[in-house]
Amino acid sequence: MPGLGTWRSDPGQVQEIVKQAILHGYRHIDGAWIYGNEAEIGNGIKEAIAESKGHIKREDIFITTKIWNQYHKPDDAEWAVRDSLNKLKLDYVDLVLIHWPIAFKKIKENRWSQSEDKKERYYEESISLEQTWEGLEKLVEKKLTHSIGLSNFNSSEIERILKVAKIKPVTNQIELHPYLNQKELRDYCHQHQITITSYCPLSNLKREGDSVTALNDPVIEALGKKYNKTSAQIIIRWHLQHGLIVIPKTVTPQRLIENADVFDFELTTDDVNSIDKMGEKNLRFINPAFKPGNKGMFD
Ligand SMILES: NC(=O)c1ccc[n+]([C@@H]2O[C@H](COP(=O)([O-])OP(=O)(O)OC[C@H]3O[C@@H](n4cnc5c(N)ncnc54)[C@H](OP(=O)(O)O)[C@@H]3O)[C@@H](O)[C@H]2O)c1
Repeated sequence: MPGLGTWRSDPGQVQEIVKQAILHGYRHIDGAWIYGNEAEIGNGIKEAIAESKGHIKREDIFITTKIWNQYHKPDDAEWAVRDSLNKLKLDYVDLVLIHWPIAFKKIKENRWSQSEDKKERYYEESISLEQTWEGLEKLVEKKLTHSIGLSNFNSSEIERILKVAKIKPVTNQIELHPYLNQKELRDYCHQHQITITSYCPLSNLKREGDSVTALNDPVIEALGKKYNKTSAQIIIRWHLQHGLIVIPKTVTPQRLIENADVFDFELTTDDVNSIDKMGEKNLRFINPAFKPGNKGMFD
């Protein structure tokens, strides 16, 4: 079963869609402190549990949050998770991720730690990834989360964590879709028993100056016709057949049902290979300027 993504799900819409998702059988909700909608997600979870009349319990649902770049110091990470828990109205989350392997200076009312003209970024040099990881391990000891993991980490950044980890990262959440299939990083994580969670799994984001999406790719459309499934269903099935955890975002009830209706067919090996081949395009949609060396978008 896919999980439900919640980035850019409006606070006004996310409560209802989270409730519907859980009642429809979704059991994994992916959120983050920076998305600014955790209070409404919490309401949706609460309502679903209440409406299920005892059939669904808190422990049946897997809830993820992420530590924002300004909260990499252990005390700040604990503050951030407690803040998320407060908003979610929960005692624990199932998974806390380091959202990005980059630390910003903590500047109140300036979440992106940027100068006013946005030309300068204020990085926090006094905290290493290893120290942030130790801070996350303490959150497990304090039972604020059941597990911890990474997001947007490359293999050398993961390697640094593995060298010091007392608790191993359970997942690395990364951009992954037919146009960016991340084969090498997938293999690396597999070798170290770290699962991969695919974000932007449908590649349904506008890039600067174009609106490319694998949903309209002729390869995907032809497979849709062959299997009598939508493009989104073909792509979600491809993720699942690769053993990936997949978290498509939607606030549209009919798509919620569509995205979960992927268990009555199986792509042949040749068809999986033909989607794999689309990865030659190597298109990255999330390319923020704060990751050194990147061209930049979204800020
Ligand atoms: N760790 C990170 O740094 C990071 C970064 C990005 C995303 N994420 C997580 O990953 C989740 C998913 O990624 P994403 O939201 O960027 O992209 P996505 O799930 O690939 O695409 C979401 C977009 O596709 C549309 N959509 C959903 N189902 C569809 C369907 N069946 N047919 C056609 N369009 C459909 C949605 O529209 P409607 O909502 O209008 O239906 C929305 O515009 C996020 O929500 C977030 O939880 C994490």
